Amino acid sequence: VETCATVAAMRATAARLRQGGRRLALVPTMGALHDGHLALLAAARARADAVVVSIFVNPTQFGDPRDLALYPRSEAADAALLAGAGADALFLPAAAEIYPPGDETIVETTRLAGVFHGARRPGHFRGVATVVCKLFNIVAPDLAIFGEKDYQQLAVVRRLVRDLHLPVEIVAVPTVRAADGLALSSRNARLAPEDRAAAAVLARALDRAQALAAAGAPVEDLHEALRATVAAEPRARLVGLDIVDAEDFAPVQGRLTRRAGIMLSAEVGGVLLLDQREVDPPAGDR
Ligand code: PAF
Repeated sequence: VETCATVAAMRATAARLRQGGRRLALVPTMGALHDGHLALLAAARARADAVVVSIFVNPTQFGDPRDLALYPRSEAADAALLAGAGADALFLPAAAEIYPPGDETIVETTRLAGVFHGARRPGHFRGVATVVCKLFNIVAPDLAIFGEKDYQQLAVVRRLVRDLHLPVEIVAVPTVRAADGLALSSRNARLAPEDRAAAAVLARALDRAQALAAAGAPVEDLHEALRATVAAEPRARLVGLDIVDAEDFAPVQGRLTRRAGIMLSAEVGGVLLLDQREVDPPAGDR
């Protein structure tokens, strides 16, 4: 895989990959690649003629410097994995390349960045929106692939693309899960074995909520079931629980009449884990 470390090199490579009207896809990542990322890459390959993967552990989306320092990094293994998975180029910039000295420009989805997960991690979605905008400007892809697991991130990216008229199609890919339901995440590498087993509680809680929604239960019952399921796992601590309308991202109450998204986060063994599920009301209630 051709590796580009600078903006200039990446621009030149992307221009070459787009030659002759070829469609170029970008898969933005923070590395420590796993099967979830390979699913993003496969979706990119299926829709585009050439694929760029970026690996950049973006400092501006981490509030806590300890969290940034602990974020898993495995660049050599990542590059080997990408070579076997059919990526055409890897963008692997240093922080100073993305944030040049004196950098002061930010991109923020002003409402969406400050609610739900964003309210608990101030500045996080500003950092995500800013770096995604920069990556789009550098690579100029026709399409970009994001995982559904980071549900609010996907909404933030869609909003910024719409509001700033960026000519990039956003493709969402369903979450890839381990056999016990745990959503694959680079952070899972930091879980001790007993915490790894406990982490499956997020998926279990979401399964329960999905069954309740399908049976016509009100959103308040979903909240209660999700809280009770996480509380029953002594190694887990609930951090965030939001149930929002899948279209406009407004909080929902009472009986569902349209598709909703559940965003659940919990700390297991000191590691923050996120998961998500879209749920539908029973067919008769839609
Ligand atoms: O989802 C991620 O890995 C990151 O938030 C992203 C989109 C690459 C931006 O840094």
